[in-house]
Parts: sequence; C-alpha cells; structure tokens
Amino acid sequence: MAEGGKKSTSDLRVVICGGGIIGVSIAYYLAEKGVAATIIERRSVACAASGRAGGFLAKNWCDHNELGHLARKSFEMHKELAEKFGASKIDYRLLDTFQVDSLEGFHSDSDSGKPDWIDGCVTSVATLGNTSTTAQVHPYKLTHAMLEEAQKKGVKLIKGAVEGIKSTHDKRPKVQGVKIADQEEPIPCDIVVIAMGPWSHMASQWFARLPKVKGHRAHSIMVKPPTPFPAHACFIEHRLKNGITRSPEIYCRPDGEVYICGLGDDPELPDNPEDVKPDPETGEKLLGIVGEISTKLGQADIQRKSACFYPVSPDGTPLIGKITTAEGAYIATGHSCWGILNAPVTGAAMAELIVDGQASIVDLKEFSPKRFWEMGWY
Ligand SMILES: Cc1cc2nc3c(=O)[nH]c(=O)nc-3n(C[C@H](O)[C@H](O)[C@H](O)COP(=O)(O)OP(=O)(O)OC[C@H]3O[C@@H](n4cnc5c(N)ncnc54)[C@H](O)[C@@H]3O)c2cc1C
Ligand SMILES: *[C@@H]1O[C@H](CO)[C@@H](O)[C@H](O)[C@H]1NC(C)=O
Repeated sequence: MAEGGKKSTSDLRVVICGGGIIGVSIAYYLAEKGVAATIIERRSVACAASGRAGGFLAKNWCDHNELGHLARKSFEMHKELAEKFGASKIDYRLLDTFQVDSLEGFHSDSDSGKPDWIDGCVTSVATLGNTSTTAQVHPYKLTHAMLEEAQKKGVKLIKGAVEGIKSTHDKRPKVQGVKIADQEEPIPCDIVVIAMGPWSHMASQWFARLPKVKGHRAHSIMVKPPTPFPAHACFIEHRLKNGITRSPEIYCRPDGEVYICGLGDDPELPDNPEDVKPDPETGEKLLGIVGEISTKLGQADIQRKSACFYPVSPDGTPLIGKITTAEGAYIATGHSCWGILNAPVTGAAMAELIVDGQASIVDLKEFSPKRFWEMGWY
C-alpha cells in the first residue's frame, strides 16, 4: 500500500472505454507502469478509424500548432515500438513523401523528378519529406501488437457497449463503475478513461461540462498492383476542369498493397460502429482520380473499399486529460487526422497522469478539456 491509504498502483482499477489505438495505447503504457487495465470495446479492437487509417507518420508536420511537441516525441516513439515488435510485424518503414499537382486531362512528356509509377496528368512533383521526417505503420497491426503485449501483462479485454457511468451522488461525483448494455452489474473501477473516438460524444451526457467531439468521415481504398511500389507517400492536389480541387493521399505499403484515401464528408455518425459504410460514388471518384495520375494504380486489383470517422473536438485540438467535474474520470480523444501518429505519446502521457498524477513526457496543459470553460464555451 502506498502512503496515506492510497491503493498501490497494481491495485488501481482502471477501465478504458474504447479499443481503438488511443485506448489500447493507454492500456499498453499503463501496463508498463504495473497497472493492468480493462478495455471495453463495443465491436472489435481497431474496427474503426484505428484499423482503417493510412498510418502515415510525420515528424514535423504539426510544428505550426500545439501538437508539434507531441508529434515529434511520438514520431520517435513509433521507431522504438518498431524496434520492439519488429518492423515487419507492424509494417513500419521510413518513406519519401511527395506533393503531386495534377490537372484533369493534362498530358506531360517530361519524366524528370517523378517517381516512375506516376505517369499521368501531373503538372509538378515536389518533395514534402524524406526518410528522416516521414514514415508509415500499419495501424491495425500496430494496435493489435500493443494489445497482445499489454494482455501478456494482465490487461483484460471485454466486449460490450458502454452506456453510462456509475458514480456517487456528491457535488463532484466519484466514479465507481462503468455500465455496459445488457449487463446488470456495472464493472467496478476507481478510474475510467473515455477513448471511444468519435463515439466519445456520448460521455458528454455522463459528465458535466464535457465538450462534445464530432466525427468526420473519410474514404479509403486498398489496391494491389502486380508488382510492389517503392516506399513512397503522395499528397495529391488534383484540379478538375470545373476548377474544384480534390486532395487524395496515396501510401504504398511494404506488403505490396497501396492505400488510397481522401474525399471526406460529414454525414451523421451512426450509433453503432458496425453501421459505418462508405459512399460507393465517392469511392469511384477516388479511384478515377488516382487512375488518371498512375496507369499502374488504375489497373491494380481492388482489395477493399472502406470508410471511417475520425474524432474532432470543438476547437480541433485533442482532448487529453482529466475530466475535472468528476473524480477518477479521464478522456483522450479528438486526435482528428493524426491519431495514429500521436497515439504512443498520448498513451504514455495518460499513463503518467493516471499513475503519477502528472504527465512528464509532454506537457498536457493545452489539451485539458477545461480550456473550453476558461473560454466560456461550456
Ligand atoms: C481515412 C482515414 C485516414 C487516416 N489516416 C491517418 C494517418 O495516416 N495518420 C494518422 O496519424 N492518423 C490518421 N487518421 C486518424 C486516425 O485514424 C484517428 O485519429 C484514430 O484512429 C482515432 O483513434 P481512437 O482510438 O481515438 O478512435 P477509434 O479508432 O474510432 O476507436 C474508438 C473505439 O471505440 C469503440 N466504441 C464506440 N462506441 C463504444 C461504446 N459505446 N462502448 C465501447 N466501445 C465503443 C469503437 O468500436 C472503436 O473501436 C486517419 C483517419 C481516417 C478516417
Ligand atoms: C532530408 O531532408 C532534410 C531537409 O531537407 C535534409 O537536411 C536531410 O539530409 C534529408 N535526409 C535524407 C536522409 O535524405
């Protein structure tokens, strides 16, 4: 027992709601500190954005905002994870990254400076990053590798839909348990962590003054060309004849598949993660653009068409920290398009905050949900 009758860390009962990369990363780093949490996941681990994301990682692309120091730290942590698990197990590798400008119907004869699989309507190619600043990981494989390791240290995974919190009736309620649909008894706990990605919006009904996240949908398509592509990522600015610009992204993976994503929209988030579906027309548009840029990609076998929602907070900056209106409540969500990149640092910082009372790996001050109250939003 620790001082003052506080429970020793290994007795701390932590329940993490949501088995995406953020929830699993928190469980992974808690386990490293001797706390075996319980993860409650509604469908299956990494079934949503965390399994369907591109997995693109950039060291310095968040430098213009609050996320800069988190991203830089996390970029290095991904390297350490790849060393630990073995790069091939999680499809981690360093990349050369290009900006490709293209124009519908344009034809160029010049090949200078272009990756050779880019042979279509391209007007210019520039370098955005190289193997010291950009990398990739397979987000589904990484989430499962972290889960496996955490389970070896005693982390438990329960399938269930979290539907509420049991807490005391004090002015500042103390968390006592997590209620799961169709189960009579809540799962008892001292600490609850909300990490349900876009579905974390539900927790705004469970805790006072908790800002509500939203979901933004993006589409993705996996294709497999007959021969593997090099370690390249491409950010495309494709101008249509009608003046509209589309911005698909292409990530060539080490397993020979090529991941294509983009064309986001904002339909309503379905309550059940199982009901997230791509819009077929949008998928066709995405393939059409990519086919114009690369003949080989246009002719490649289509493996999977998908869509997922990433979580966005009201000001676009993640919510990482204590929910101070209740005792024992925490949240980590709203990572928008950088949730894979920033998962390790989020997990490690949250583990420190929960166990040590403060994060030392990075300063979480700017990510506290409290910032909205200070601005009078909530
Ligand atoms: C197309 C696309 C491409 C992307 N590419 C990249 C990229 O290249 N690099 C990058 O860094 N980021 C990328 N992202 C962003 C990244 O995917 C997300 O930020 C990240 O996956 C969010 O993780 P999460 O754990 O917060 O949420 P999620 O992955 O959504 O996980 C939440 C989990 O909670 C579960 N859940 C929901 N309701 C309940 C409930 N009631 N009870 C229990 N569990 C519940 C869900 O089933 C789900 O498994 C991309 C996103 C999209 C959509
Ligand atoms: C990557 O780019 C940076 C900045 O442009 C440069 O300083 C560095 O040498 C490059 N690294 C590699 C491995 O090419």
